[in-house]
Amino acid sequence: MYEPYNYTRKIVGFDTFEGFPHIDEKDGKSEIIQKGAYSTTAGYENYLSEILNYHEKQSPISHLKKYELIKGDATKTVKTYLEDNPETIIAFAYFDFDLYEPTKVCLEAIIPHLTKGAVIGFDELNCHNFPGETKAFDEVLGINKYKIYRDRNNPVPSYIIYE
Ligand SMILES: C[S@@+](CC[C@H](N)C(=O)[O-])C[C@H]1O[C@@H](n2cnc3c(N)ncnc32)[C@H](O)[C@@H]1O
Repeated sequence: MYEPYNYTRKIVGFDTFEGFPHIDEKDGKSEIIQKGAYSTTAGYENYLSEILNYHEKQSPISHLKKYELIKGDATKTVKTYLEDNPETIIAFAYFDFDLYEPTKVCLEAIIPHLTKGAVIGFDELNCHNFPGETKAFDEVLGINKYKIYRDRNNPVPSYIIYE
């Protein structure tokens, strides 16, 4: 929105669209921690693509596609994406896997592509039902190495600035 002519700035979304593919013991024992949890209805990625296409049409350079949805296990697809697009510089990454393994693997994969000042958002830091995301954040970046920012009116999302 702020850079409508910047066709190099893209949104890339990764999800299985089939829910959690696997669980690690570091994810704890909450009842939502189950293989397949958060699966979508069949073909949801196509519906989401239609919505994103609609948004794209509002862009002044709508003939250039500036989003991508990548279906599959992000522990594999994020690495493949970065191998196929080695020029990638990441300004903002939002983590909402809820789980230890994909958060850890994908954080490690994106670090070489982060610019100084990049924002990394998290949906489940300090969340009792999803301890794995905080564990992955701690192991890769370190809880006591970053100031964690939150909106005072919304306790769920948080972010750090990568320095
Ligand atoms: C709480 S949902 C959030 C979905 C979406 N961000 C939203 O707000 O509607 C967690 C998502 O993480 C996805 N997920 C968990 N592990 C994954 C993995 N290894 N690879 C890709 N997606 C994964 C699940 O499929 C699920 O859609």
